[in-house]
Amino acid sequence: MKIAMIGSGYVGLVSGACFADFGHVVTCVDKDEKRVADLIDGIIPIFEPGLDQLVAENVRQERLSFTTDLKEAVEKADAVFIAVGTPSRRGDGHADLSYVFAAAKEIAQSLRAFTVVVTKSTVPVGTGDSIDKIIRETRPDADYCVVSNPEFLREGAAISDFKRPDRIVVGADDPRGREVMTEVYRPLYLNQSPIVFTSRRTAELTKYAANAFLATKIAFINEMADLCEKVGADVQDVSRGIGLDNRIGSKFLHAGPGYGGSCFPKDTLALVKTAQDFGSPVHIVEAVASINSTRKRMMANKVIHACGGSVRDKTIAVLGLAFKPNTDDMRDSPAIDIINALQAVGAKIRAFDPASMDQAKAILSDIQYHDNAYDCIEQTDALVIVTEWDAFRALDLDRVKASLKTPIVVDLRNIYRPEIMQSKGFEYSSIGRV
Ligand code: UDX
Repeated sequence: MKIAMIGSGYVGLVSGACFADFGHVVTCVDKDEKRVADLIDGIIPIFEPGLDQLVAENVRQERLSFTTDLKEAVEKADAVFIAVGTPSRRGDGHADLSYVFAAAKEIAQSLRAFTVVVTKSTVPVGTGDSIDKIIRETRPDADYCVVSNPEFLREGAAISDFKRPDRIVVGADDPRGREVMTEVYRPLYLNQSPIVFTSRRTAELTKYAANAFLATKIAFINEMADLCEKVGADVQDVSRGIGLDNRIGSKFLHAGPGYGGSCFPKDTLALVKTAQDFGSPVHIVEAVASINSTRKRMMANKVIHACGGSVRDKTIAVLGLAFKPNTDDMRDSPAIDIINALQAVGAKIRAFDPASMDQAKAILSDIQYHDNAYDCIEQTDALVIVTEWDAFRALDLDRVKASLKTPIVVDLRNIYRPEIMQSKGFEYSSIGRV
């Protein structure tokens, strides 16, 4: 199969490289000339474990290439994937589809033989219909169909998520679209990954429903954690106790400072808006979105409380800035709200993150950045763990204690055991455990 991937951002690049690795011939297209020039030189613009090797190997095998020339890539493609950004539109929370529609128009102008146009970008229900209309109006003579194939990739684990997915969802109303998509995913089919074939609108909604459900699990366990702190229970055991029930499932029940990242906050809001527009509000998801944004700010109060009621003129060491480990992504990271709230009440912040400090510098000001965890902690009044990088799990706790001015540790990811921390003399607080 010949594939054109429009948009060489996170989803486009990972999907393009993985399709090439299956043996397809993939051309990744991007408007950004510098990005394309960098990719041709082997410079990968995003942080994703294993992606640089995967790209290099498939470029070497001449299955993967990069270009700014959309026309050339589309003309020869059997399937054209749209993987451009769908940010939250300023003001109303709806997904901004201007990049998707612009791509559809450009693709239409270049269509030759029968082509399947596939949306990989997360798009609201009905977007496939709009794309169909744009292409039809631009090129009434074109032979094509529009298919929805949402991605379920986690940053930091995107390659294995792509290659060993729990499922693939394909929304194709035209049987020819279904046929081409079966070919595209044949390597995974043989691997027994289930493919859910459905209508285009159903596939579009399935993506939002999946993310909203996962966000709901997190918001639920976070509220249970707050209750655990009040009643003297342990949220980790509650998670285990309920998660072993197959109907509930043990994943996404880890309590923490609230979810962040490029998907959950944006997609829950977009789903809320779509549901309101259709007069069928999703009250649970509305509550989840609101609980989560309040929670991130409330985490600063936890730190203030641990510091005896005030952090004015105190120096707080923050370990972890990215919204989760194994990524440099700071989008909607809890660290942003927590640090802003602490600074607003007079705290001085020192910080270290293994990957995201460049990104953080563009978003957060007045922070002293350090090159490693121990330098960051030195002579500070409290240590706050915001992201659960593996490197923080095995810190030398005696050295940490000796470095801190006061032995206060606020662990927002429950990476340490309370009894060990207490036995070492820390004033330790965590999430949903006493
Ligand atoms: C998510 C979805 O998992 C993926 O399928 C979708 O396509 C894109 O959005 P991602 O944003 O990369 O992926 O990260 P994920 O690992 O799902 O974590 C999202 C957020 O939830 C993070 O802030 C994480 O810290 C938080 N989280 C996750 C919890 O607080 N507790 C959990 O148990 C799991």
